[in-house]
Amino acid sequence: MGKKNLDWANLPFGYIKTDRRFVANYKDGAWDSGKLIKDDKVKISECACVLQYAQTCFEGLKAYTTKDGRIVTFRPDLNAERMESSCKRLEMPVFPKERFVKAVIDTIKANINWVPPFGSGATLYVRPYMFGSNAVIGVKPADEYQFRILVTPVGPYFKGGVKPITVRISDIDRAAPHGTGDIKAGLNYAMSLYNIVDAHKNGFAENMYTDPATHTYIEETGGANILFVTKDGKLVTPKSGSILPSITRRSLVQVAKDYLHIEVEERQINKNELSDFVECGLCGTAAVISPIGKINDHGKEILLPSGMEEMGPVLSKLRETLTGIQMGEIEAPEGWIYEIK
Ligand code: PLP
Ligand code: COI
Repeated sequence: MGKKNLDWANLPFGYIKTDRRFVANYKDGAWDSGKLIKDDKVKISECACVLQYAQTCFEGLKAYTTKDGRIVTFRPDLNAERMESSCKRLEMPVFPKERFVKAVIDTIKANINWVPPFGSGATLYVRPYMFGSNAVIGVKPADEYQFRILVTPVGPYFKGGVKPITVRISDIDRAAPHGTGDIKAGLNYAMSLYNIVDAHKNGFAENMYTDPATHTYIEETGGANILFVTKDGKLVTPKSGSILPSITRRSLVQVAKDYLHIEVEERQINKNELSDFVECGLCGTAAVISPIGKINDHGKEILLPSGMEEMGPVLSKLRETLTGIQMGEIEAPEGWIYEIK
């Protein structure tokens, strides 16, 4: 059996059922050994904690085919660590880091023919997730859990790939001041659904959220962190306790400093500063770096000097360097690339 016969270059960011998924069950205080199965259906109690009280969290990472034909994945250890924070905050049991990384690798390996070829623009999206599976009716954590990993080949998150998008500054919050914005809880995304549908209806690709306490500082979008470039070429990214610590953003900060010798500032960004920046983009596993051409602040349009036609030079260079590292064209910092053998 060889590679699947898909139109790799035109894949949407969508779900395609692949051959195998990983499943481990937690019961009586311990995880079982877990296995790869063919069945894509989940069978749980009608009163499962995930269904009643949204006790679930997830992760997202990707597998790539390198130029020389190897299959690799990017920093799965950081996804394991972030999932550990999510689980602790949601009173869920931690799936140990070494087992998490091994299960990610095993699941990619079991679906190797679904990893898109080098240069196709598509990648294999890997989605680890966990949920409370037994019945609870009083508000309390479950006693039983399932940890699963599914994979699906995907194209770009935003239509058009690296074409600049327009976003709006949102009045609705995705996070609370001392809430769950800094973990990858399913509930954060449920919170954002009304707002993303409304944004799309109004012609915006995403919502740019501000800090939930004062609505003054820029935070992130529904599914990605934000990067700005100043007139003098500095990279600036919001610092906040209520945004998700993006692995892409943390990697880009290091790439900017160590590979491109770009100065980086992680700090609060007042929304009044938006018109001072020359480039702006979203960053995340799904988004990679997607340029923002225009920000709508309650009817006031802020046009980034990089424009609506292409990505600006600094973000382009960052994107090129990061994807070069991920696809094996540029040497990676130690420990970033895991090869699937
Ligand atoms: N912020 C949010 C709300 C996200 O959903 C994601 C996606 O995972 C990110 C940021 C980017 O994080 P990462 O780079 O780890 O994928
Ligand atoms: C990711 O980038 O992995 C995400 O989770 C973003 C989105 C698909 C929710």
